Amino acid sequence: LKVGILGIPFDKGQPRIGVGNGPRFIRDAGLIKRIQSIDKNMDIKDYGDVSYTVSKDVSEEVENMREYEHMASCCREVSKNVAKIINDGRICLSLGGDHSIGLGTVDGHIQAKSDNIAVLWIDAHADLNTNKTSATGNVHGMPMALLAKELSDYWPYLPGMDWQKPMISLRNIAYVGLRDVDVYERLVIDKLGITAFGIEDIEKYGIHSVINMALEKVDPYQNRSIHVSYDIDSLDALEAPSTGTAVRGGLTLREGIHLMEMVANTGRLGAIDLVEVNPSIGSASDVRNTVDAAIHIIMASLGHKRQGLRIKKIQEM
Ligand code: ARG
Ligand code: MN
Ligand code: MN
Ligand code: MN
Repeated sequence: LKVGILGIPFDKGQPRIGVGNGPRFIRDAGLIKRIQSIDKNMDIKDYGDVSYTVSKDVSEEVENMREYEHMASCCREVSKNVAKIINDGRICLSLGGDHSIGLGTVDGHIQAKSDNIAVLWIDAHADLNTNKTSATGNVHGMPMALLAKELSDYWPYLPGMDWQKPMISLRNIAYVGLRDVDVYERLVIDKLGITAFGIEDIEKYGIHSVINMALEKVDPYQNRSIHVSYDIDSLDALEAPSTGTAVRGGLTLREGIHLMEMVANTGRLGAIDLVEVNPSIGSASDVRNTVDAAIHIIMASLGHKRQGLRIKKIQEM
């Protein structure tokens, strides 16, 4: 496996400080060493952190989109970097940062794979608001709506976003873990028939069946590059307390790991985002637990097996 790590210390998609330190905390907890422990032949390259300057063509404000110019400028760089890493033949692991960066990571993946991607959006939230429906103006609640072909008519002209084509059809995305969905988001999910598995579906069918159903929907011919955009708040607030919009009653870490193992088993994982880890929220042990949960999720996506390695496999290494 070849992996490229991209830090995206972006925090302006939501009001709380600290989420920009996510990449540093995750790296400092030994991320690379722990990924390397999965397979010592794994080829890991750290591309460092994305930086951006607010470009002049994004100087205008957009109504009810806080820090719009920052999000637009940052995501343009994110998209370029993600596309480059995937074109280098690597699985792109993006460390957020808040979830607004998902606009850039999915866009970059689309560019690199000329549209043939499937997205699993693992989240307590749908992040499907437009600037007209958002109750907060926080752009981390909007990336799915910006990405969706079907919603492009519902946006005003967005200055400086011409690089971004709302190219993904909502038919190619599936939600897993929803439990805090706004009224208009629910309306759009129902109207457009978006594949969405809420916590009650996981309750009913179990995580294993839910992921199989989700993959069948978004990747029916098993030929797409899979993008997992993993919001750490999909996990229960007890498992991952250090996040800005925590919601109780969520996925267990076991479910999160299992779903990532299933994605790893497809052999078609193209990109992972691990977002919304905020080390400024909660106690020191809350932060440790949240960062550690993030690393477990990442390791599962890159082939770590809880059953342990078999001798044969070790000899091959
Ligand atoms: N739906 C709410 C909003 O629009 C919360 C979004 C939370 N998003 C996230 N990426 N954690 O503001
Ligand atoms: Mn501003
Ligand atoms: Mn999210
Ligand atoms: Mn969320």
